[in-house]
Amino acid sequence: MASTKHRATTSGTVRFVLDGEVVTVSDVEPTRTVLNFLREDLSRTGTKEGCAEGDCGACTVVVGELAGDDVRFRAINSCIQFVPTLDGKELITVESLKGINGALHPVQRAMVDCHGSQCGFCTPGFVMSLFALYKSAQKPSRRDINDALAGNLCRCTGYRPIVDAAQKMYEYGSDAAKPHEHWMNCSFSSMGDRQRSTSEREMIERLQSIQRRDTLMLSQGTKTYFAPSRAADLAVLREAHPDARILAGGTDVGLWVTKQHKDLNTVIYVGNVAELTRVEVTDRHIEIGAAVSLTDAFAVLVKHYPELDEVFRRFASPPIRNAGTLGGNIANGSPIGDSMPVLIAVGTSLTLRKGKRTRELPLDEFYVAYQKTALEPGEFVESIRVPLPLLGGQVRSYKIAKRFDQDISAVCGGYRIVLEDGVVRDVRIAYGGVAATPKRALRCERALLDHPWTQDSVDAAMTELDKDYSPLTDMRASAAYRRLVTRNLFYKFFLETSGKQTQTRVFEYA
Ligand SMILES: Cc1cc2nc3c(=O)[nH]c(=O)nc-3n(C[C@H](O)[C@H](O)[C@H](O)COP(=O)(O)OP(=O)(O)OC[C@H]3O[C@@H](n4cnc5c(N)ncnc54)[C@H](O)[C@@H]3O)c2cc1C
Ligand code: FES
Ligand code: FES
Repeated sequence: MASTKHRATTSGTVRFVLDGEVVTVSDVEPTRTVLNFLREDLSRTGTKEGCAEGDCGACTVVVGELAGDDVRFRAINSCIQFVPTLDGKELITVESLKGINGALHPVQRAMVDCHGSQCGFCTPGFVMSLFALYKSAQKPSRRDINDALAGNLCRCTGYRPIVDAAQKMYEYGSDAAKPHEHWMNCSFSSMGDRQRSTSEREMIERLQSIQRRDTLMLSQGTKTYFAPSRAADLAVLREAHPDARILAGGTDVGLWVTKQHKDLNTVIYVGNVAELTRVEVTDRHIEIGAAVSLTDAFAVLVKHYPELDEVFRRFASPPIRNAGTLGGNIANGSPIGDSMPVLIAVGTSLTLRKGKRTRELPLDEFYVAYQKTALEPGEFVESIRVPLPLLGGQVRSYKIAKRFDQDISAVCGGYRIVLEDGVVRDVRIAYGGVAATPKRALRCERALLDHPWTQDSVDAAMTELDKDYSPLTDMRASAAYRRLVTRNLFYKFFLETSGKQTQTRVFEYA
């Protein structure tokens, strides 16, 4: 039975596992970053600060979380993660890897042997990203290795010795293991299919012992932090604190603290809310809880829409995708978010909740003005409903940015078309980066509907596409460039879906 009061709160104590022991922190500022906490409070200075905005990877640590009866290990950026979000998890830092008598972990040994340790600033972050890879893949391909390192920047030497280390790390035994280091005994996070060692069982039990069913509440001075574990409790808290800042992965919010030095007085963390961290696939759609990580959301989306693999692989870096959520990307309301154009194109809708009331809103109606959404005071995004692919539908999304990895889009386009005997029976097109919000190209769509999918129709629709948007010039691209790219991406979609890939035609600057 839903209640109008939220369940009892537990005041004041964050509990997480570090080096096999449960650590309790009772007096921490809610927005203290894990990086500052490690370096200044625990004197664990192996984790470095480079950019303090999730870009360079010097601060990478690994977080272990219960996933069913297993523990899942993922790299995150400690510079933009707040300490209370560690509650119920395991934190692994570069210091944790050292074994008995200082013996190196296989990842560290491979880095030494391959001359991958190039500078003291970046190496701990590289080691932790490789450690996360070591834990999640047995035989990673070169592409997997490149992806795993996409969030670690090296400006001095290059990546070859580090990639060599990634390939070699599996050759070393784990004789350096300490009794509590359950993660040293295997190179796989999935323990389900083999015998668990005593230390692994103990770690799972330890993590189980610090899971909460109530709401964690912290308070320091004017700052308050709530971390409910049920949607009903979140709804009550949200209504009671309509001015509170919702915190999900913190990959946007974290920067407001580290770069803009904003004080967030009341924070409601949604990452522990069971209902918001679920994915469900029905015979019609994929229902993704708003606090599902981008990593997990993209995995299920790519399973059903394999064409989206590249655009999602180019979204930030693994540590950002591990922490960041799909709900956060959508609710942030940025005109250049990468998930929105294609989600709009495939007809996604949102479930918004306020108290006990929920309403469903098409994603393209969610954005009302620059960084303004249709969320009412006290309302939040509960889940994202993505339709399964239409029979005969073709879907694409293209991102244009200056770098392949870890870069914000200048323009991002999402497209879906359904053809019947060569005639357009359904079409949805949306762009990010060319208007104040992610926005559909309605004039272009109208020009295409019920017309043959041919060069002539596309030429006519192109004129309408120009009228759909009035792009701006900013540091990422000029208005003229954006307009040109908008056209060229649409044309690319036409070529790819009409069997005319070999044809090339390049539009020129107006
Ligand atoms: C280095 C770096 C690279 C990045 N690269 C990209 C990129 O390539 N493409 C891209 O699109 N983005 C990128 N981002 C932006 C960011 O990672 C995404 O927008 C991410 O999805 C935000 O999710 P989050 O969970 O971290 O949100 P948070 O930072 O926790 O929150 C973001 C906003 O959403 C609100 N919010 C969160 N959840 C809810 C909810 N359930 N209901 C209502 N409001 C909610 C918060 O209050 C806040 O206003 C990058 C960020 C960094 C730091
Ligand atoms: S310090 Fe650069 S990513 Fe954290
Ligand atoms: S390893 Fe630090 S800049 Fe290259």
